[in-house]
Amino acid sequence: MAQEILTQRADGVFTIQMNRPEKKNALTQNMYALMAQGLQAADKDDSVRVVILCGTQNLFTSGNDIEDFQTQSSGDDDSWLLTTASFLEAVLSLRKPLIAVVQGYAIGIGTTMLLHCDLVYAGKSAIFSMPFVNLGLCPEFGSSFVLPNLAGHQRASEMFLLGEQFGPEEAREAGIVSRVFNDDTLMDEVMKIAERLARKSPAALMATKKLMKGHWAQKIREAINADGEMFASLLASPEAREAFDAFANKRAPDFSKF
Ligand code: COA
Repeated sequence: MAQEILTQRADGVFTIQMNRPEKKNALTQNMYALMAQGLQAADKDDSVRVVILCGTQNLFTSGNDIEDFQTQSSGDDDSWLLTTASFLEAVLSLRKPLIAVVQGYAIGIGTTMLLHCDLVYAGKSAIFSMPFVNLGLCPEFGSSFVLPNLAGHQRASEMFLLGEQFGPEEAREAGIVSRVFNDDTLMDEVMKIAERLARKSPAALMATKKLMKGHWAQKIREAINADGEMFASLLASPEAREAFDAFANKRAPDFSKF
């Protein structure tokens, strides 16, 4: 089996790549755990100045593996919640600049994780969506707090309540994306930016990030906990089970019976 998370370190830049293209880079427990380990290792390693999180060619991630959701909803094993929490904590506690590079689908946590990155660069092919409601679920990873603050309540409501796809320009206008590039130059542009950051004073970079994030840190952790509790209770709901079964059987969910 191919390695589902690849890491690479060169010239002060540590890259974490999601690599499960046959399942549209859907994230499993194992992948969350490996990404958390990568982030923690990058944080500790003084030679690492910048971290990049990316997917495979033309694909960021289709979000959490829905089969994993289905397993969670039918049992009382909470290991999925613990593994996801360790990834979220590793993102939140990374002291160094975190750059996300998005091409193709960035769905569910594929979009919400971007809200906690420092710089987000998207190719014109990027497609975002947070279809939690369509799965009988609710926003996660503190996104119910961060997105309305970034984009305003009405714009966030459209994104969350309708759960439809939107493109990179809309994501940029909403404050989710820093800049949009052509797909064929995206990675080169990002590497140039990462190299520029890697030449700067690490202490100054980390202090600047700490100050900016510090004002919101407690609120964000509270939001993550509130989202997580609601999400966990909805995971076991009949509506969510109907949505997971619909996905597995490649049909539209029917919520009319609830
Ligand atoms: N979890 C588990 N499997 C997933 C997945 C996910 N999040 N996203 C895609 N896959 C699987 C598909 O089931 C399919 O598997 P199969 O080949 O064994 O049938 C394979 O990846 C390819 O996906 P497919 O749906 O055929 O590709 P597509 O190009 O037609 O559509 C998406 C791509 C991303 C739009 C579509 O797969 C999708 O909507 N995925 C679910 C996204 C989602 O709701 N994520 C959770 C958010 S909370």
